[in-house]
Amino acid sequence: MEERKGFKSNFGFLMAAIGSAVGLGNIWGFPYKMGKGGGFAFLLLYILLSMVCGLILMLSELSLGRRTGSNSVSAYNAVSKRFKWVGWLTPITATLILAFYSALGGYCVKYLVVNIGSLFGAEWGANGLDGATIFAELIGNQMESVIYGGVFLLITMLIVLGGVSGGIERFCSVGMPALFVMLLIVIARSCTLPGAVEGLKFMYAPNFEPLKEDFLGVLKTAGGQMFFSLSLSIGALITYGSYVDKKQNLVKNTVIIASAGAAVGLLAGMAVLPAAFALGAPEDAMKGPSLLFVTLQDVFEGMGRIGPVFGILFYGLVVLAAISSSVSLLEVPVAYFVDRNRKKGKSERRWLYALLTMVVSGILCTVTCADGLGGNGLWIPFQRFFAGAEKMPAFCESWLNLLDMISEGLLMPLCGICTCLMIGWEIKPEFVRAEVETSGDRFTVYGFYRFCVRYITPLIMLFILWGQIKDFFNI
Ligand code: PFF
Repeated sequence: MEERKGFKSNFGFLMAAIGSAVGLGNIWGFPYKMGKGGGFAFLLLYILLSMVCGLILMLSELSLGRRTGSNSVSAYNAVSKRFKWVGWLTPITATLILAFYSALGGYCVKYLVVNIGSLFGAEWGANGLDGATIFAELIGNQMESVIYGGVFLLITMLIVLGGVSGGIERFCSVGMPALFVMLLIVIARSCTLPGAVEGLKFMYAPNFEPLKEDFLGVLKTAGGQMFFSLSLSIGALITYGSYVDKKQNLVKNTVIIASAGAAVGLLAGMAVLPAAFALGAPEDAMKGPSLLFVTLQDVFEGMGRIGPVFGILFYGLVVLAAISSSVSLLEVPVAYFVDRNRKKGKSERRWLYALLTMVVSGILCTVTCADGLGGNGLWIPFQRFFAGAEKMPAFCESWLNLLDMISEGLLMPLCGICTCLMIGWEIKPEFVRAEVETSGDRFTVYGFYRFCVRYITPLIMLFILWGQIKDFFNI
């Protein structure tokens, strides 16, 4: 049997796992959700949820991967009778997320290209168009959107083809530090613009009003954000965990990955919001796609000749963040097939499975791009059932929402709940303790871990599942 190769160094593993965590969710979602959800108060809630839920699930997944030394499907299969089937959810969910993530990643590539064009005064630059027009033209142009989504997927596939250490580790070991430096440069510019302080106040100042008005709503937003941005419950961390050396301290690594994810979210807010406020963008412009694709593009345009340089830095770092996340998604199904071949004594044929997954995700990505966030009149499942309804449920407004609802809304929280039940009650938390202690370190917070994984974490995941259902079905 061919030897199963993993990460070459702990630094490489950390960069890959942080790369998976840091993505569109942190750079785009975190800043405005924190601003809307109570600023510093939201942050405290987010940290609390990360401790009793995020860290617990992350450690469980890394341990499950390293202990079984296999991909996510085989990992569940190897340890559990009752929750075997959960393993199968992971490659399905990852393939669905990869599809719409690539559509969004493709939009980011487009903005990178636009800013490069603007820098050289080329016709394919912004050419005096504002962010709203560029975005409307992009999503209205099906062919262009599909091409950009395809380019994003292709880059993802080429990295995964390089293998775990030669592709993913190598890309993330250079990409993540580069992303950090680019982020600091954009922050320096953004925070020194006149009026920037308003953006910092919007994001950081404690504001207990949203908590008083709708505590459960804020809790749900913070929970959903926490668990998507940490790449939990999709098999990515089980897969990465299976490539980690037995000598490494898993608890320490878990804390580093989660803290880095939160830190990048906070830093992204300092890069994005002060600039948006300095430009005088209304609060509504901070939300959803418009923050990334309309408001910020206008901010860079408004900076004059130097604007495209910051545009390139910013959209470049967003593309890096998105690609380092998408490679972890693609690795989930690929690792399953590659392991299966290795077990049978056949050659790995990584290229074949990367290609096959890319084709499946690519078809769904094409539909998502062609749909243009619901604006291009494409047929969307279930839409006609709600034709006469007062308010259309969010999940049938666009293909993006539909794929997001199935994957992030339902399958991911379901997988998280089952993982907690499996570890907490079936195979028992001792399983994780034994794996953590193989490195020779003591699992000093085991009592806390055990309590959370059995009672607290599954309850919070259940609450998040309920929150996502409510959001997508407009309940
Ligand atoms: N954590 C990524 C983000 O915040 O954008 C999204 C993600 C990547 C989720 C990889 C799940 C995953 F396996």
